[in-house]
Amino acid sequence: MPCRTNEELQNLVEEAKREAPAGKVADYIPALEKANSSDLSAAIFYPDGTCYSAGDIKDQFTLQSISKVISLALALMDRGEEKVFSLVGQEPTGDPFNSIVKLESHSPNKPLNPMINAGALAVTHLIAGVDVTERLERLLCFIQDLTGNHSITYNKDIAESEFETAFLNRALCYFMKQHCVIDEDVEELMNLYTKQCAIEMNSLDLARMGCVLAMDGVDPLNGRQLIPFHIARICKTFMVTCGMYNASGEFAIKVGIPAKSGVSGGVMGAVPGRFGIGIYGPALDEKGNSIAGLKLLDIMSKKYSLSMF
Ligand code: DON
Repeated sequence: MPCRTNEELQNLVEEAKREAPAGKVADYIPALEKANSSDLSAAIFYPDGTCYSAGDIKDQFTLQSISKVISLALALMDRGEEKVFSLVGQEPTGDPFNSIVKLESHSPNKPLNPMINAGALAVTHLIAGVDVTERLERLLCFIQDLTGNHSITYNKDIAESEFETAFLNRALCYFMKQHCVIDEDVEELMNLYTKQCAIEMNSLDLARMGCVLAMDGVDPLNGRQLIPFHIARICKTFMVTCGMYNASGEFAIKVGIPAKSGVSGGVMGAVPGRFGIGIYGPALDEKGNSIAGLKLLDIMSKKYSLSMF
């Protein structure tokens, strides 16, 4: 069994942390720039409820793109596969996460997958509820169940900071509205999406959420099927094919586990049938993935033979 002490994980974190100076915190969302680029924390959550952690585990960070996996699960539960995949494709892009190019060049003009920004915006559009407040509340309750932490909420400053500056995401929305992928008011959708991305937690919460996915949607502590089996499978498949954006292929070869990153520096990993991993390391590589976080996963995968392939 990998990593059965905090000290063992701490040693791996110390080794991976050496990569952090080569990365840079995200600054296109102004509030994210305040993060400390040398931070690295990690947690592992096993289905029997035991967990191990290293680094400053109390550090809270926003999910950013990691939320795309959870909004996808909820939208699939709300609307079904046929509806969701009539608006969003299932193929990797090889482009950066906020690229608009394939929306225009690809026919039909729907986003290629739910893990890029365009696809995630279309998915968030599908979350059911009478208004933004109810849709956000449903997403928050779902995430509270997945983490077992009922105090989880979103960070208002980071949500506002993104809302005020998300011109590229608005452009993606208007493009999709023109092509009938979305049919709601763009400001309403941006309001919900920026709050979704600003949902905040620590590495331990993230590891527990990863563990639910690793266990095919079942909460290992109470046996509740929080995500239907086939939807958990879809989410994990997208994590493998698109979870690290245009670094997903290299990550699959090097590490070989379903994982999803976010520009805040979070990474959620789900080692199928075994455990969940939560990492926070805000220094990013040029593709927007946590540089020390990816190093840590690389070290862990080799040391504990985690690759699925
Ligand atoms: O929409 C955005 O640009 C951000 N809220 C999330 C992007 C993100 O996390 C990409 N991740 N690596």
